[in-house]
Amino acid sequence: INITVVDESGEAQEVEWKDNQTLLECLHKNQYPVLATCGGNASCATCHTFMDPEHFETGGDERTEAEEDLLEMIDDVANDYSRLACQTEYNEGLDGATVTLKPGM
Ligand code: FES
Repeated sequence: INITVVDESGEAQEVEWKDNQTLLECLHKNQYPVLATCGGNASCATCHTFMDPEHFETGGDERTEAEEDLLEMIDDVANDYSRLACQTEYNEGLDGATVTLKPGM
């Protein structure tokens, strides 16, 4: 599938997301320097991204419990469409989605 990634400077670029990758792996593969301090274990929130509202709904896979808990801890910056990239599995419903990286990652 293809998604549009908006980086912290607001620049948008379309990238390919392969079906064996999490969103985090896709971003890394495409040279986005997302930190991922905990190594993808849903415990650091440095991989926080924003999904566009429409695709948050059609994306299928819902947030994991660990993801919900962590997003709650950063609710000053997270919103209803926040996703941890490491917990966001490939899903065909996300084709055409726009993923915004958090400012100052
Ligand atoms: Fe730490 Fe995703 S890499 S929560």
